[in-house]
Amino acid sequence: MARDGALYVCQACGAAQSKWAGQCAGCGAWNTLVEELTSRPPGALAPSRAAKGRGLAFEGLQDETPSPPRIATGVEEFDRVCGGGVVPGSAILLGGDPGVGKSTLLLQVAASAARRGAACAYISGEEAIEQIRSRARRMGLADAPVRLAAETALRDILDGLKREPLDLVVIDSIQTLWSDAHEAAPGSVTQVRAAAGELVRLAKTRGVAVILVGHVTKEGTIAGPRVIEHMVDAVLAFEGERGYPFRILRGAKNRFGATDEIGVFEMGDAGLAEVKNPSALFLNTSGERAAGAAVFAGIEGSRPVLVEFQALVAPSAYGTPRRAVVGWDSGRLAMVLAVLEARCGLGLGDRDVYLNVAGGLRISEPAADLAAAAALVSSALDQALPQDCVVFGEISLAGEVRSVSRMDARLKEAAKLGFRRALGPAELERQAGIAAAPVGRLADAIRRLRDEDWGDGDAGE
Ligand code: TYD
Ligand code: MG
Repeated sequence: MARDGALYVCQACGAAQSKWAGQCAGCGAWNTLVEELTSRPPGALAPSRAAKGRGLAFEGLQDETPSPPRIATGVEEFDRVCGGGVVPGSAILLGGDPGVGKSTLLLQVAASAARRGAACAYISGEEAIEQIRSRARRMGLADAPVRLAAETALRDILDGLKREPLDLVVIDSIQTLWSDAHEAAPGSVTQVRAAAGELVRLAKTRGVAVILVGHVTKEGTIAGPRVIEHMVDAVLAFEGERGYPFRILRGAKNRFGATDEIGVFEMGDAGLAEVKNPSALFLNTSGERAAGAAVFAGIEGSRPVLVEFQALVAPSAYGTPRRAVVGWDSGRLAMVLAVLEARCGLGLGDRDVYLNVAGGLRISEPAADLAAAAALVSSALDQALPQDCVVFGEISLAGEVRSVSRMDARLKEAAKLGFRRALGPAELERQAGIAAAPVGRLADAIRRLRDEDWGDGDAGE
């Protein structure tokens, strides 16, 4: 039996139970239950003497006072993902793997906003002041009027923030904060929730924008940022593939804007550089495109991005063929393989299949189906696509190639980067100097690939 007041809290999902178990009953994760001492279960209401509430004062939807303008931090890629700047009084959670560059990004954001006149503070619980200073020097930000503090005690941070009139506060990271009102260890669900709750309240009551850093961890010892996602107004994810300098900022939730925008950065010696025009970034422009490569003309957020899909279809050495995919959804790969087999008679069931999105980008658009299929077919037939060809289109289970959004923008971007033809849905029309190779069904696309029939009469115009 648990001791009085002891609760076992899952560090992955935050579910609490009175008995320890190897597996969390809430999310099914193993070895994530940790004892946390609390006087009452988190979230329970304090017992109140007055049984009667004060009642509600209802308000209309319309508001006479115009909302204050957003804080443009000046880091445009960041501002755009936030929905056009940071909303005063909002709370933003920035999640990401350790070492991806969260501290670097937010120091740049704070410095840039401070240079533009916003009152900014950067509170670090992870690094000493001297460390942050030397990083700022290296990044050429030392002269920015950012108020710097190294602190982990929540009470001191709240007191300090109440005294100072600020526009933007960065807390790096939420997992290092520690509240003396709770006995649980720093980084535990109880502490992380308490600290986030207090800071979000401070943001709302004082109109200061608060950006919280949250490490994403797989181990159960530190609570993941997921347990506070519902408290904040926006959740941003900072991603990067190991070995690539590119970092992508994505919105996962945003109460003040769309979530499909991405911000692209490149990590260098002087911090993160904004990549304003990422369309050519993920393309291998030098050298021949080999069999198994297909250039996808995609849309990320509001911007077109061209990226290379690379496939390798090889004889399998073992009984169970391997399927490995990087940068794309493995479920969608399975679907495309099934459609190739069932609708096009191209069975790859006994072969190893590898699919990779070049440059470390993660593609989630359904429009990439045809590009993945083209790369797979090209590798299976050992037949390269034309060098100047882009591909896009959604594939249905019936084997049709479906139309996708914003085809004109995709074609325009492809033309800008020197492409001259496009393989895509039947609705595809010649535009911006790009010859259309429309295909109604996936089988038609395979035929074009196999017979090298790209309708060149059209391209020569
Ligand atoms: P950091 O912002 O500390 O990551 P996080 O806060 O997400 O844990 O960045 C860590 C990595 O970034 C580190 O491995 C070094 C690299 N880096 C650069 O390459 N150039 C730079 O100018 C800076 C500041 C960091
Ligand atoms: Mg950090």
